[in-house]
This record gives sequence, C-alpha cells and structure tokens, in this order.
Amino acid sequence: MNKNEQQFFAPGRVNLIGEHLDYNGGLVLPAALSIGIKASYRKRNDNRVLLSSSAHTLQKEIHLQDAYFFQPENDWCNYPIGIIEHLKKEGRQLSGGEIHYESNLPEGSGLSSSAAIEVLTAYLLLSQTESDIDRVWLANFCREVENEFIGVQCGIMDQYAVALGKRDCAILLDCDTLEHLYIPIVLEDYKLVLLNTNKPRSLIHSKYNERKRECDEALRIIRATQPSVANLCAASPYYLDLLQNETIRKRAKHVITENLRVKESVKALRLNDLSTFGRLMNVSHQSLKEDYEVTGLELDTLAETAQQTRGCLGARMTGAGFGGCAIAIVHKTAIEEFKNKVGEKYLSVTGLNCNIFASEIGDGVRKI
Ligand code: GLA
Repeated sequence: MNKNEQQFFAPGRVNLIGEHLDYNGGLVLPAALSIGIKASYRKRNDNRVLLSSSAHTLQKEIHLQDAYFFQPENDWCNYPIGIIEHLKKEGRQLSGGEIHYESNLPEGSGLSSSAAIEVLTAYLLLSQTESDIDRVWLANFCREVENEFIGVQCGIMDQYAVALGKRDCAILLDCDTLEHLYIPIVLEDYKLVLLNTNKPRSLIHSKYNERKRECDEALRIIRATQPSVANLCAASPYYLDLLQNETIRKRAKHVITENLRVKESVKALRLNDLSTFGRLMNVSHQSLKEDYEVTGLELDTLAETAQQTRGCLGARMTGAGFGGCAIAIVHKTAIEEFKNKVGEKYLSVTGLNCNIFASEIGDGVRKI
C-alpha cells in the first residue's frame, strides 16, 4: 500500500428474520457479513474524483463543481455519484481524490452491495474531515440517497446493518424508533450458510414498490376504524378481518405475523435455542412465499430443499426476494453433503447452478 493511500471496508449484510418489515415500522434482525467491498483512497489536490472498480470496466471522472443526476449509463458509478451529490447538498467540504473499489460481494444477489458501496463512499469521504462519524446519521443519509438519487423506495435496514454491524452479533433494529440492540449469535457447531440463486433479478424495484403500496393501503383501511394503530407491524392480527381484499389481507398477514416471529426468534436466540430459531426461519419463508409472494421457483427450491437436508436447522430467503440469496443454519460436519444435495436438486429443477458457502458475521464499515 502506498503511504498516501488509505483503505476502507464496508460489509454486505443478511437479514436473519423480519423480512419486508422495515418500511412497515417493524422489527428486523440483520447482521453484517465478513465479505464486502474494499476501497483504496488517494487524495488529489484538485476538484476531481476518479471512480474505478476491479469488477467493472466503466470508470468515471467527477468534477466537484458540476451537478450530476442519476443516469442509467453511469451504471455502478451512480452510487458514489449520488453520495457525492448529497454530501454537497448537505454543505460538506469535499476534496478531489481517487477511489478504487474491489469487492468479494456478489452484486445484485440480495446481500446489499448497493448499501455497502453507499455507506463505504460516504464514510471514506467524511473520514477526511471528521474523526467521529455518527453511524445512525450515516445510515439515514445513505438511505436518503438510495430513495432520492437512485429512486428505490427501500427501508433503512440495509444501510443500518452496513453502518452499525458488529462481529458475531445480529442487530435487533426497531424501524419505528431507529433504536437497536445487539443480539449475540452463538452458533457453536453450526454455520450460517448463504445460498445464491444466481438468478438475474428483473422487475425487482417495481414489485418492491408495489408491496410497499399494498402495505400502505392495508394500514389506511385498518386506521379508518382503528386510528391509534401506529404502523402495520403494530396492528393486532384481529384487524386482518377488516381487510376485504384478499391480496391486501395476505400482505398484512405476513407483516403482522413476521413481526411476532422476530420477537420469538430473539427469545430463542437469547436462550441459544437454535432449533426453535430454525423452525421460525422455515415459517418465515413459507409466509414470504404464500402471503407476501416475493420468493419464486429458485428461492423456494433452495430454501425448501435446504430445510429437508440433513444437518439443516432452518432456511429462508433473505432480503427483498424475487431471486437473490437464501440463508440456512447448517451443522459444520454436514456442509459438504448439504452443498452437493441442494446444488444437484437446484440444478435439476431450475437449470441453474447455485453458489453455497459458509459465512461469518462481521463488523460494520471501517478504516482498515
Ligand atoms: C431490501 C430493502 C430493505 C428491506 C428488504 C426486505 O433489501 O433494501 O430495505 O425492505 O429488501 O426486508
């Protein structure tokens, strides 16, 4: 490493349970991974920021005095450009620099590579002038960039997990109050296993936004008779009877029951009761398949085959769905057989090869 060079790292994340609850004011349980994106930074004495990545041929030179907008042809560079534009809007002083990204996080696989590059870029740039960056502020700021510059109406979970992750802990985040607790994840002879469908995700943003609208509609109807309900996750399951439209009722049923599953999961994890947690993961997947309808053949084949394979305590999709990754808790001595069995079944059903690998829970964004 050159002496003028600084290096930073931001992790990807998985969500252990509590899916599609962040934009409904509920509880989520994500964890940062040990894999992620590394950035090397070198300061320049002019007003230009050079962006490059070992994963892409596209490079960009940004002039800090110019204004930039989201442009599809800017591809991956839209993320750092969005961060730079919003930092300027905040009145932050930025200087020129060269940023080179290297990643071992599969892109577009539901492990939050976009939140990772956003949080990494903002942290790196702010570190040049600030020694104590407020990580909750950082998560909120990066979510705003994703919502306003990139145009994806995501909740706060991904940016929060990338900014505030802690080794060997999940983050129990209350998306209503934005308060969090760290829950130690003690897996002993088990491993957290990631299963990548390798399915290109199309239409994910429009379907994601559609689910958000359906949940807003469910809350609007419930509030017409129950005005004190703060958010959909806080609604009693009895209020589901107020929802006449079957699709809207199913969406709300997932949200309300999933929030209860997060509470049960935390109780189980605090007792190191991995079997109960595994069963809750399986029920969560079923609810995302049948009521929230965000899984699809690939995720269902992976999660359901995993659930039936020796040594696996539980499996579910993680993240937005519609492709991307599933996670499973698997006994360490059964992993090789698990990989073979699940991989073969997946190939025979979908014609695709999946990637299955054990991962560790790591820390949030940092200078290295
Ligand atoms: C995506 C979004 C998150 C969250 C999950 C679903 O990862 O970015 O905000 O809504 O989907 O739980």
